[in-house]
Amino acid sequence: MTGAINHPDIIEPNGTIGILGGGQLARMLGTAAAELGLKCHIFCPDERAPAYDIAAQTTIASYTDEKALAAFAAAVDVITYEFENVPADSVAYLTSLGAKVRPGAKALETSQDRLVEKQFINEIGAKTAAFHPVDDLESLKTGLQNVGRPAILKTRRLGYDGKGQTRIKTAEADLSAAYEKAIAFAWEEVGAAPSILEGFVPFEREISVIGARTSEGDIQLYDPAENVHRDGILKTSTVPANITDATANNARAITTKMLQELDYVGVMGVEFFVLKDGSLIVNEYAPRVHNSGHWTQDACAISQFEQHIRAVAGWPLGDPRRHSNAVMENLIGNEAHNWRELANEPNTGLHLYGKREARAGRKMGHVTRITKS
Ligand SMILES: Nc1ncnc2c1ncn2[C@@H]1O[C@H](COP(=O)(O)OP(=O)(O)O)[C@@H](O)[C@H]1O
Ligand SMILES: [Mg+2]
Repeated sequence: MTGAINHPDIIEPNGTIGILGGGQLARMLGTAAAELGLKCHIFCPDERAPAYDIAAQTTIASYTDEKALAAFAAAVDVITYEFENVPADSVAYLTSLGAKVRPGAKALETSQDRLVEKQFINEIGAKTAAFHPVDDLESLKTGLQNVGRPAILKTRRLGYDGKGQTRIKTAEADLSAAYEKAIAFAWEEVGAAPSILEGFVPFEREISVIGARTSEGDIQLYDPAENVHRDGILKTSTVPANITDATANNARAITTKMLQELDYVGVMGVEFFVLKDGSLIVNEYAPRVHNSGHWTQDACAISQFEQHIRAVAGWPLGDPRRHSNAVMENLIGNEAHNWRELANEPNTGLHLYGKREARAGRKMGHVTRITKS
């Protein structure tokens, strides 16, 4: 086994990719790695996790367990992650041992805090929703005056799938009891945690771009997908998105700039709001493979998962062009119980995550229906 100290820049077949996190994204990354003759080692605190099924090695330990992290670093050739809430200190520790962590600390840390993320997006010249940092009821009131209503209050850290956020709709006069009640409720909803208040964006549609960059600076982008959310969770991603070429090119340009400015290595997903006039507002980015890129498994020669493995292993990127149009639909909770009917559908890729319990709101799998482009 290659030690962490003398990491090769290029991980050859039979090398090992270490993945922090054991969910469905790690499972699909590991499967893609196996297709390239690479092995994966999953590090995850859960006793049971979807990615263990496909892993050559597993470590079940806390992300802050330094002994376990050191052994992991020594056992793998490169380290990546499937979720953005890996503690920054753990990544710093792994890096101090000589391990290569891709994408790097800047991309991870910027995405972990919605305030820092929005500042970064504005700094590179892209637009965000109006925002205001909120640390107490006073700053929430000031924020409402600044960003207007309706507004969305989101925790700065640890939100996902619409969790950790709440809408403030009240249009009452500023001193009315209804107003006081609404803001106290919202503040309670986010657990009185450091938050950010965002102006509500009256978007026409939501799109995302999945992009990849190598350590040498090569960049490849998939076509923008159009995304529909239900109850805060992604429901469908459709390609092509119903947008003009100008909007698509702008989304590509912003994604490219973000990849470059973050000195990014790997696959990234960028979420945008499209306004009526076709202009774009960046919502957020994920420093990892992204649910809205699952369609690439069935509609492209090289999926986002393989693309990510190629990038972090120092391989050339693959061709991101689509050979088909596609609609990816998430199977949430009980929806995966239909697996037999779905398996019978023509031109439909079925992907199940091997989770035992179909809890409400839990992503159990997805299908991608392809048609000729
Ligand atoms: N400022 C906003 N204006 C309008 N809709 C928003 C805004 N922020 C979030 N949303 C809606 O909520 C969804 C989830 O919010 P997001 O910030 O992406 O959080 P998560 O990290 O949970 O994905 C978005 O995809 C969008 O549909
Ligand atoms: Mg989102």
